[in-house]
Amino acid sequence: MSHADDHQGTRRDFLYYATAGAGAVVTGAAVWPLVNQMNPSADVLALASIRVDISAVAPGTQITVLWQGKPVFIRSRTEEEIAEARAVDVSDLPDADANNENIGPAPATDENRALTEDGQWLVQMGVCTHLGCVPLGDAGDFHGWFCPCHGSHYDTSGRIRRGPAPRNLPIPVASFVDETTIQLG
Ligand code: FES
Repeated sequence: MSHADDHQGTRRDFLYYATAGAGAVVTGAAVWPLVNQMNPSADVLALASIRVDISAVAPGTQITVLWQGKPVFIRSRTEEEIAEARAVDVSDLPDADANNENIGPAPATDENRALTEDGQWLVQMGVCTHLGCVPLGDAGDFHGWFCPCHGSHYDTSGRIRRGPAPRNLPIPVASFVDETTIQLG
């Protein structure tokens, strides 16, 4: 092999690898927007509404489900929790609005927040309205939820009672599909 051939071979190899490399980059660039476009729509379709089996949720307990990337608390309240929530004078509350997507602006009575008329079921976003931490259940000075991040206390209706959080825990769109199934969204 002459010196020139050797040089040509090296040059060919160089071009080959450079082209292959460029091809890989182009392929990657072409695939990414496709994936990027598909992910949100797939997510939105999958999570626009979900159904939750609540048959195993006993009074005095709750489950947390993930919906649209956020935790949702579904609680079966005891008679005591309901009575405590309904005894509160709304004019004493820091946030006077029910913060319930199902009914729009309304006084923050427990009746306007509970999913069922008897008050047993309370469904709310598990996201502190201060800076978005997830509050702890069965906790705090008002026997509801407590956000340890900066000390916000929510009552048994999920209404802010003390601490820096400005709003009651939001109530998402929710409904009973049958006796043991709640649909979110
Ligand atoms: S995030 Fe809950 S009190 Fe600050």
